[in-house]
Amino acid sequence: MSYSIDTKCIQSGYQPKNGQPRTLPICQSTTYQYDDADALGLLFDLKADGHMYTRISNPTVAAVEEKIADLEGGVGAMLTSSGQAATFLAVFNICSAGQNFIAMNNIYGGSINLFSVTMARMGIEVRYINDQMTDEEVEALFDENTRLVFGETIANPALSVLDIRRYAAIAHRHGVPLLVDNTFATPCLCRPFDFGADIVTHSTSKYMDGHANVLGGCIVDGGCFDWAASGKFPELTQPDESYHGVVYTEAFGRAAFITKARVQLLRDFGATPMPMGAYLLNLGLETMALRVQRHSENALAVARFLEKQEKVLWVNYPKLPGNAYYHLAEEYLPKGASGVVSFGVQGGRKAAMHLMNSLKLARIVVHVADARTSVLHPASTTHRQLTDEQLAEAGIGPEFIRFSVGIEDVSDIIADLQQALEQL
Ligand SMILES: Cc1ncc(COP(=O)(O)O)c(C=O)c1O
Repeated sequence: MSYSIDTKCIQSGYQPKNGQPRTLPICQSTTYQYDDADALGLLFDLKADGHMYTRISNPTVAAVEEKIADLEGGVGAMLTSSGQAATFLAVFNICSAGQNFIAMNNIYGGSINLFSVTMARMGIEVRYINDQMTDEEVEALFDENTRLVFGETIANPALSVLDIRRYAAIAHRHGVPLLVDNTFATPCLCRPFDFGADIVTHSTSKYMDGHANVLGGCIVDGGCFDWAASGKFPELTQPDESYHGVVYTEAFGRAAFITKARVQLLRDFGATPMPMGAYLLNLGLETMALRVQRHSENALAVARFLEKQEKVLWVNYPKLPGNAYYHLAEEYLPKGASGVVSFGVQGGRKAAMHLMNSLKLARIVVHVADARTSVLHPASTTHRQLTDEQLAEAGIGPEFIRFSVGIEDVSDIIADLQQALEQL
Protein backbone atom coordinates (compact mmCIF):
# COMPACT_ATOMS: atom_id res chain seq x y z
CA MET A 1 0.00 0.00 0.00
CA SER A 2 1.26 3.47 -0.83
CA TYR A 3 0.82 6.12 1.86
CA SER A 4 0.90 9.90 1.65
CA ILE A 5 4.00 11.71 2.85
CA ASP A 6 2.28 12.82 6.09
CA THR A 7 1.61 9.16 6.95
CA LYS A 8 5.13 8.12 5.93
CA CYS A 9 6.63 10.64 8.37
CA ILE A 10 5.09 8.57 11.15
CA GLN A 11 4.92 5.05 9.77
CA SER A 12 7.95 4.51 7.49
CA GLY A 13 11.23 3.02 8.62
CA TYR A 14 11.01 0.87 11.74
CA GLN A 15 8.54 -2.02 11.32
CA PRO A 16 8.22 -4.03 14.55
CA LYS A 17 7.54 -7.76 14.37
CA ASN A 18 5.33 -9.74 16.72
CA GLY A 19 6.06 -8.83 20.36
CA GLN A 20 8.74 -6.25 19.55
CA PRO A 21 8.69 -2.67 20.94
CA ARG A 22 6.17 -0.47 19.13
CA THR A 23 8.48 2.56 18.96
CA LEU A 24 12.00 2.65 17.53
CA PRO A 25 14.42 1.04 20.02
CA ILE A 26 17.83 2.63 20.59
CA CYS A 27 20.41 0.01 19.74
CA GLN A 28 23.28 1.40 21.81
CA SER A 29 25.94 -1.04 20.67
CA THR A 30 29.06 -0.45 18.62
CA THR A 31 29.34 -4.08 17.69
CA TYR A 32 27.36 -7.19 16.68
CA GLN A 33 27.97 -10.83 17.46
CA TYR A 34 27.94 -13.70 14.98
CA ASP A 35 27.84 -17.43 15.77
CA ASP A 36 29.88 -18.38 12.75
CA ALA A 37 33.35 -16.94 12.00
CA ASP A 38 32.77 -17.15 8.24
CA ALA A 39 29.62 -15.01 8.47
CA LEU A 40 31.69 -12.01 9.49
CA GLY A 41 34.08 -12.58 6.58
CA LEU A 42 31.15 -12.45 4.16
CA LEU A 43 30.10 -9.11 5.69
CA PHE A 44 33.61 -7.73 5.18
CA ASP A 45 33.49 -8.81 1.53
CA LEU A 46 30.06 -7.12 1.11
CA LYS A 47 28.63 -10.51 0.16
CA ALA A 48 26.04 -10.65 2.95
CA ASP A 49 23.70 -8.13 4.59
CA GLY A 50 24.11 -7.30 8.26
CA HIS A 51 25.67 -4.91 10.70
CA MET A 52 29.35 -5.36 11.54
CA TYR A 53 30.37 -2.16 13.27
CA THR A 54 28.40 1.00 14.11
CA ARG A 55 30.83 3.27 12.27
CA ILE A 56 29.31 1.77 9.10
CA SER A 57 25.75 0.86 10.14
CA ASN A 58 23.47 0.37 13.13
CA PRO A 59 19.85 -0.88 13.38
CA THR A 60 18.44 2.34 14.92
CA VAL A 61 20.26 4.47 12.38
CA ALA A 62 19.20 2.15 9.54
CA ALA A 63 15.51 2.49 10.42
CA VAL A 64 15.75 6.29 10.19
CA GLU A 65 17.67 6.05 6.92
CA GLU A 66 14.90 3.89 5.52
CA LYS A 67 12.30 6.45 6.58
CA ILE A 68 14.11 9.37 4.92
CA ALA A 69 14.75 7.34 1.74
CA ASP A 70 11.03 6.61 1.60
CA LEU A 71 10.08 10.25 2.24
CA GLU A 72 12.33 11.44 -0.59
CA GLY A 73 11.39 8.58 -2.91
CA GLY A 74 14.99 7.31 -3.13
CA VAL A 75 16.48 3.81 -3.19
CA GLY A 76 18.63 4.29 -0.10
CA ALA A 77 19.90 6.84 2.40
CA MET A 78 22.87 7.30 4.71
CA LEU A 79 22.81 9.36 7.88
CA THR A 80 25.92 11.32 8.83
CA SER A 81 27.08 13.14 11.94
CA SER A 82 26.21 16.57 10.48
CA GLY A 83 24.91 18.25 7.37
CA GLN A 84 28.45 19.34 6.54
CA ALA A 85 29.56 15.71 6.51
CA ALA A 86 26.65 14.82 4.20
CA THR A 87 27.58 17.59 1.75
CA PHE A 88 31.25 16.65 1.77
CA LEU A 89 30.74 12.90 1.44
CA ALA A 90 28.13 13.27 -1.31
CA VAL A 91 30.48 15.36 -3.45
CA PHE A 92 33.66 13.48 -2.58
CA ASN A 93 31.97 10.16 -3.42
CA ILE A 94 32.22 11.02 -7.13
CA CYS A 95 34.74 13.85 -7.36
CA SER A 96 38.50 13.41 -6.92
CA ALA A 97 41.70 15.44 -7.14
CA GLY A 98 42.09 17.03 -10.57
CA GLN A 99 38.36 17.11 -11.15
CA ASN A 100 35.82 19.91 -10.73
CA PHE A 101 32.14 20.52 -10.12
CA ILE A 102 29.59 23.27 -10.66
CA ALA A 103 27.73 24.87 -7.72
CA MET A 104 25.20 27.66 -7.32
CA ASN A 105 26.93 30.66 -5.74
CA ASN A 106 24.19 31.45 -3.19
CA ILE A 107 24.33 28.20 -1.20
CA TYR A 108 24.91 27.94 2.56
CA GLY A 109 28.11 29.75 3.66
CA GLY A 110 29.47 26.57 5.27
CA SER A 111 29.18 24.77 1.93
CA ILE A 112 31.01 27.64 0.22
CA ASN A 113 33.87 27.36 2.74
CA LEU A 114 33.98 23.59 2.30
CA PHE A 115 33.99 23.81 -1.50
CA SER A 116 36.19 26.89 -1.99
CA VAL A 117 38.82 26.35 0.69
CA THR A 118 38.92 22.83 2.11
CA MET A 119 38.10 20.85 -1.00
CA ALA A 120 40.39 23.10 -3.04
CA ARG A 121 43.21 21.79 -0.78
CA MET A 122 42.23 18.30 -1.92
CA GLY A 123 42.71 19.34 -5.54
CA ILE A 124 38.98 19.57 -6.27
CA GLU A 125 37.86 22.77 -7.99
CA VAL A 126 34.43 24.35 -7.58
CA ARG A 127 33.04 26.54 -10.38
CA TYR A 128 30.24 28.83 -9.24
CA ILE A 129 27.22 29.79 -11.28
CA ASN A 130 24.19 31.97 -10.62
CA ASP A 131 20.64 31.64 -11.82
CA GLN A 132 20.88 34.75 -14.00
CA MET A 133 23.31 32.92 -16.29
CA THR A 134 22.00 31.44 -19.53
CA ASP A 135 22.27 27.70 -20.18
CA GLU A 136 25.10 28.46 -22.63
CA GLU A 137 27.02 30.43 -19.99
CA VAL A 138 26.61 27.61 -17.47
CA GLU A 139 27.53 24.93 -19.96
CA ALA A 140 30.67 26.82 -20.99
CA LEU A 141 32.03 25.99 -17.50
CA PHE A 142 31.84 22.24 -18.06
CA ASP A 143 34.87 20.31 -19.27
CA GLU A 144 35.78 16.62 -19.40
CA ASN A 145 36.68 16.70 -15.68
CA THR A 146 33.36 18.14 -14.46
CA ARG A 147 31.62 15.62 -12.24
CA LEU A 148 28.39 17.11 -10.84
CA VAL A 149 26.13 20.13 -10.37
CA PHE A 150 25.13 21.24 -6.85
CA GLY A 151 22.38 23.60 -5.62
CA GLU A 152 19.88 24.13 -2.77
CA THR A 153 16.12 23.78 -3.28
CA ILE A 154 15.62 26.92 -1.17
CA ALA A 155 18.99 28.63 -0.74
CA ASN A 156 20.12 29.59 2.77
CA PRO A 157 19.77 32.54 3.31
CA ALA A 158 19.13 33.98 -0.19
CA LEU A 159 15.81 32.04 -0.34
CA SER A 160 16.10 31.63 -4.08
CA VAL A 161 14.29 28.60 -5.45
CA LEU A 162 16.28 26.20 -7.62
CA ASP A 163 14.85 25.42 -11.04
CA ILE A 164 15.52 21.72 -10.50
CA ARG A 165 14.28 20.56 -13.93
CA ARG A 166 16.52 23.08 -15.68
CA TYR A 167 19.73 22.21 -13.82
CA ALA A 168 18.99 18.48 -14.02
CA ALA A 169 18.69 18.82 -17.80
CA ILE A 170 21.98 20.76 -18.00
CA ALA A 171 23.80 18.24 -15.80
CA HIS A 172 22.42 15.28 -17.73
CA ARG A 173 23.44 16.80 -21.07
CA HIS A 174 27.00 16.54 -19.74
CA GLY A 175 26.59 13.02 -18.34
CA VAL A 176 26.79 14.09 -14.69
CA PRO A 177 24.26 14.08 -11.81
CA LEU A 178 22.45 16.97 -10.11
CA LEU A 179 22.93 17.03 -6.33
CA VAL A 180 20.33 19.02 -4.40
CA ASP A 181 20.59 20.13 -0.78
CA ASN A 182 16.92 19.87 0.25
CA THR A 183 17.42 21.04 3.85
CA PHE A 184 15.05 24.02 3.91
CA ALA A 185 12.28 22.47 1.82
CA THR A 186 12.27 18.97 3.35
CA PRO A 187 10.53 16.22 1.35
CA CYS A 188 7.23 17.47 2.80
CA LEU A 189 7.42 20.57 0.60
CA CYS A 190 9.54 19.37 -2.33
CA ARG A 191 10.92 16.03 -3.52
CA PRO A 192 13.78 16.89 -5.88
CA PHE A 193 13.85 13.37 -7.40
CA ASP A 194 10.38 14.01 -8.83
CA PHE A 195 11.92 16.78 -10.95
CA GLY A 196 15.05 14.96 -12.16
CA ALA A 197 17.59 15.46 -9.36
CA ASP A 198 19.83 12.44 -8.76
CA ILE A 199 21.18 12.78 -5.22
CA VAL A 200 19.66 14.69 -2.30
CA THR A 201 21.49 15.90 0.80
CA HIS A 202 20.16 17.26 4.08
CA SER A 203 21.24 18.98 7.20
CA THR A 204 18.81 17.03 9.38
CA SER A 205 19.75 19.50 12.15
CA LYS A 206 17.08 21.82 10.68
CA TYR A 207 13.38 21.02 10.09
CA MET A 208 13.89 17.25 10.13
CA ASP A 209 14.96 17.22 13.76
CA GLY A 210 12.96 20.39 14.14
CA HIS A 211 13.76 21.08 17.79
CA ALA A 212 17.41 22.16 17.64
CA ASN A 213 18.32 19.05 19.62
CA VAL A 214 20.55 16.94 17.44
CA LEU A 215 23.08 17.68 14.74
CA GLY A 216 22.94 15.40 11.71
CA GLY A 217 22.98 15.00 7.97
CA CYS A 218 21.70 12.64 5.34
CA ILE A 219 22.47 11.64 1.76
CA VAL A 220 19.68 10.07 -0.31
CA ASP A 221 20.26 8.20 -3.56
CA GLY A 222 17.52 8.63 -6.18
CA GLY A 223 18.74 5.46 -7.90
CA CYS A 224 18.03 6.72 -11.43
CA PHE A 225 21.38 8.07 -12.60
CA ASP A 226 23.08 5.64 -15.00
CA TRP A 227 26.70 5.73 -13.80
CA ALA A 228 27.83 3.07 -16.25
CA ALA A 229 26.26 4.77 -19.29
CA SER A 230 27.86 8.09 -18.34
CA GLY A 231 31.32 6.53 -18.40
CA LYS A 232 32.69 9.26 -16.13
CA PHE A 233 32.64 7.48 -12.78
CA PRO A 234 35.25 4.70 -12.61
CA GLU A 235 35.03 4.78 -8.80
CA LEU A 236 31.55 3.25 -9.20
CA THR A 237 32.06 1.15 -12.32
CA GLN A 238 35.60 -0.24 -11.77
CA PRO A 239 36.81 -2.58 -9.01
CA ASP A 240 37.33 -1.17 -5.49
CA GLU A 241 40.51 -2.82 -4.22
CA SER A 242 39.58 -2.10 -0.61
CA TYR A 243 36.74 -4.64 -1.01
CA HIS A 244 38.52 -7.33 -3.05
CA GLY A 245 37.58 -5.78 -6.34
CA VAL A 246 33.86 -5.19 -5.84
CA VAL A 247 32.27 -3.13 -8.65
CA TYR A 248 29.51 -1.05 -7.04
CA THR A 249 27.29 -0.69 -10.11
CA GLU A 250 27.42 -4.45 -10.73
CA ALA A 251 27.01 -5.60 -7.13
CA PHE A 252 24.49 -2.99 -5.91
CA GLY A 253 22.72 -1.78 -9.07
CA ARG A 254 20.58 1.30 -8.45
CA ALA A 255 22.00 1.67 -4.93
CA ALA A 256 25.64 1.87 -6.14
CA PHE A 257 26.23 5.51 -5.10
CA ILE A 258 24.84 5.23 -1.58
CA THR A 259 26.47 1.83 -0.95
CA LYS A 260 29.88 3.17 -1.94
CA ALA A 261 29.36 6.27 0.23
CA ARG A 262 28.68 4.03 3.23
CA VAL A 263 31.10 1.15 2.89
CA GLN A 264 33.99 3.25 1.64
CA LEU A 265 33.62 6.85 2.85
CA LEU A 266 31.76 6.35 6.13
CA ARG A 267 34.21 3.54 6.88
CA ASP A 268 37.22 5.77 6.16
CA PHE A 269 36.05 9.18 7.45
CA GLY A 270 33.92 7.98 10.36
CA ALA A 271 31.42 10.86 10.19
CA THR A 272 28.87 8.53 11.73
CA PRO A 273 25.67 9.49 13.56
CA MET A 274 25.04 8.18 17.08
CA PRO A 275 22.09 5.77 17.60
CA MET A 276 20.70 8.16 20.24
CA GLY A 277 20.90 11.00 17.72
CA ALA A 278 19.08 8.91 15.12
CA TYR A 279 16.37 8.14 17.69
CA LEU A 280 15.87 11.86 18.42
CA LEU A 281 15.84 12.62 14.70
CA ASN A 282 13.12 10.02 14.23
CA LEU A 283 10.98 11.73 16.87
CA GLY A 284 11.36 14.96 14.92
CA LEU A 285 10.51 13.27 11.63
CA GLU A 286 7.26 11.91 13.08
CA THR A 287 5.85 15.45 13.37
CA MET A 288 7.70 17.02 10.43
CA ALA A 289 4.70 17.24 8.07
CA LEU A 290 2.63 19.11 10.66
CA ARG A 291 5.44 21.39 11.72
CA VAL A 292 6.59 22.32 8.23
CA GLN A 293 3.03 23.22 7.24
CA ARG A 294 2.70 25.49 10.28
CA HIS A 295 6.16 27.02 9.69
CA SER A 296 5.11 27.84 6.11
CA GLU A 297 1.77 29.39 7.11
CA ASN A 298 3.35 31.46 9.87
CA ALA A 299 6.19 32.63 7.61
CA LEU A 300 3.81 33.81 4.91
CA ALA A 301 1.81 35.77 7.51
CA VAL A 302 5.01 37.32 8.91
CA ALA A 303 6.23 38.21 5.40
CA ARG A 304 2.90 39.88 4.60
CA PHE A 305 3.08 41.85 7.85
CA LEU A 306 6.65 42.99 7.20
CA GLU A 307 5.78 44.08 3.67
CA LYS A 308 3.42 46.68 5.12
CA GLN A 309 5.94 48.22 7.54
CA GLU A 310 7.45 51.60 6.66
CA LYS A 311 10.78 50.88 8.35
CA VAL A 312 11.19 47.67 6.36
CA LEU A 313 13.03 48.24 3.08
CA TRP A 314 12.36 44.90 1.50
CA VAL A 315 11.02 41.44 2.36
CA ASN A 316 12.12 38.21 0.75
CA TYR A 317 9.87 35.15 0.91
CA PRO A 318 9.34 33.01 -2.19
CA LYS A 319 5.59 32.71 -1.63
CA LEU A 320 4.98 36.48 -1.78
CA PRO A 321 3.42 37.41 -5.13
CA GLY A 322 5.94 39.72 -6.78
CA ASN A 323 8.92 37.81 -5.37
CA ALA A 324 11.49 36.99 -8.06
CA TYR A 325 11.08 33.28 -7.27
CA TYR A 326 7.30 33.27 -6.86
CA HIS A 327 6.65 31.25 -10.03
CA LEU A 328 9.38 28.73 -9.26
CA ALA A 329 8.00 28.43 -5.72
CA GLU A 330 4.52 27.75 -7.11
CA GLU A 331 6.01 25.05 -9.33
CA TYR A 332 8.36 23.34 -6.87
CA LEU A 333 6.88 24.29 -3.49
CA PRO A 334 3.10 24.26 -3.96
CA LYS A 335 2.42 23.54 -0.27
CA GLY A 336 4.65 26.25 1.19
CA ALA A 337 8.21 27.54 1.34
CA SER A 338 9.09 26.67 4.96
CA GLY A 339 9.71 29.15 7.77
CA VAL A 340 12.67 31.29 6.76
CA VAL A 341 11.99 34.90 5.78
CA SER A 342 14.60 37.59 5.20
CA PHE A 343 14.16 41.33 5.29
CA GLY A 344 16.11 44.56 5.43
CA VAL A 345 15.47 47.54 7.68
CA GLN A 346 16.16 51.21 7.05
CA GLY A 347 19.40 52.26 8.73
CA GLY A 348 21.71 49.44 7.62
CA ARG A 349 23.75 47.28 9.98
CA LYS A 350 23.16 49.50 13.04
CA ALA A 351 19.38 49.38 12.69
CA ALA A 352 19.47 45.64 11.98
CA MET A 353 21.44 45.04 15.19
CA HIS A 354 19.12 47.33 17.16
CA LEU A 355 16.03 45.52 15.91
CA MET A 356 17.51 42.15 16.78
CA ASN A 357 18.43 43.34 20.28
CA SER A 358 14.85 44.60 20.80
CA LEU A 359 13.14 41.32 19.95
CA LYS A 360 11.91 39.38 22.97
CA LEU A 361 10.24 36.20 21.68
CA ALA A 362 12.57 35.76 18.73
CA ARG A 363 16.01 34.91 20.09
CA ILE A 364 19.37 35.55 18.48
CA VAL A 365 20.84 32.16 17.57
CA VAL A 366 23.09 30.80 14.84
CA HIS A 367 20.60 28.06 14.16
CA VAL A 368 17.68 28.27 11.81
CA ALA A 369 14.66 26.16 10.98
CA ASP A 370 13.48 24.80 14.31
CA ALA A 371 10.29 25.14 16.35
CA ARG A 372 11.36 28.38 18.09
CA THR A 373 11.36 31.70 16.27
CA SER A 374 14.91 32.95 15.90
CA VAL A 375 16.85 35.71 14.22
CA LEU A 376 20.34 36.14 12.80
CA HIS A 377 22.51 38.69 11.00
CA PRO A 378 24.27 36.54 8.36
CA ALA A 379 26.86 39.15 7.25
CA SER A 380 28.44 39.19 10.72
CA THR A 381 27.96 35.48 11.57
CA THR A 382 27.33 32.51 9.24
CA HIS A 383 28.66 34.35 6.19
CA ARG A 384 31.44 36.23 8.02
CA GLN A 385 34.24 34.44 6.10
CA LEU A 386 32.85 35.53 2.73
CA THR A 387 34.46 38.46 0.95
CA ASP A 388 32.35 41.60 0.28
CA GLU A 389 32.14 40.48 -3.33
CA GLN A 390 30.88 37.01 -2.35
CA LEU A 391 28.40 38.60 0.09
CA ALA A 392 27.07 40.85 -2.65
CA GLU A 393 26.83 37.88 -5.02
CA ALA A 394 24.90 35.96 -2.38
CA GLY A 395 22.61 39.00 -1.99
CA ILE A 396 23.55 39.62 1.65
CA GLY A 397 23.78 43.33 2.46
CA PRO A 398 24.52 44.92 5.89
CA GLU A 399 20.80 45.50 6.55
CA PHE A 400 19.96 41.83 5.87
CA ILE A 401 18.15 40.01 8.70
CA ARG A 402 17.36 36.30 8.53
CA PHE A 403 14.20 35.54 10.46
CA SER A 404 13.36 31.90 11.13
CA VAL A 405 9.65 31.75 11.87
CA GLY A 406 8.77 29.11 14.44
CA ILE A 407 5.52 27.29 15.16
CA GLU A 408 4.36 29.54 18.00
CA ASP A 409 1.07 31.44 17.61
CA VAL A 410 1.81 33.77 14.71
CA SER A 411 0.09 36.72 16.39
CA ASP A 412 2.74 36.58 19.15
CA ILE A 413 5.55 36.51 16.58
CA ILE A 414 4.09 39.50 14.74
CA ALA A 415 3.52 41.43 18.00
CA ASP A 416 7.18 40.88 18.88
CA LEU A 417 8.32 42.23 15.50
CA GLN A 418 5.94 45.18 15.83
CA GLN A 419 7.28 46.29 19.22
CA ALA A 420 10.88 45.90 18.01
CA LEU A 421 10.20 47.93 14.86
CA GLU A 422 8.60 50.66 16.98
CA GLN A 423 11.90 51.02 18.83
CA LEU A 424 13.85 51.87 15.68
C1 LIG B 1 21.31 24.37 3.59
C2 LIG B 1 22.29 23.83 4.57
N1 LIG B 1 23.07 22.78 4.23
C3 LIG B 1 23.98 22.26 5.07
C4 LIG B 1 24.16 22.79 6.32
C5 LIG B 1 25.18 22.20 7.25
O1 LIG B 1 24.52 21.41 8.19
P1 LIG B 1 25.04 21.14 9.69
O2 LIG B 1 25.00 22.43 10.42
O3 LIG B 1 24.06 20.12 10.18
O4 LIG B 1 26.42 20.59 9.58
C6 LIG B 1 23.37 23.86 6.74
C7 LIG B 1 23.54 24.45 8.09
O5 LIG B 1 23.01 25.49 8.39
C8 LIG B 1 22.41 24.39 5.83
O6 LIG B 1 21.63 25.43 6.17
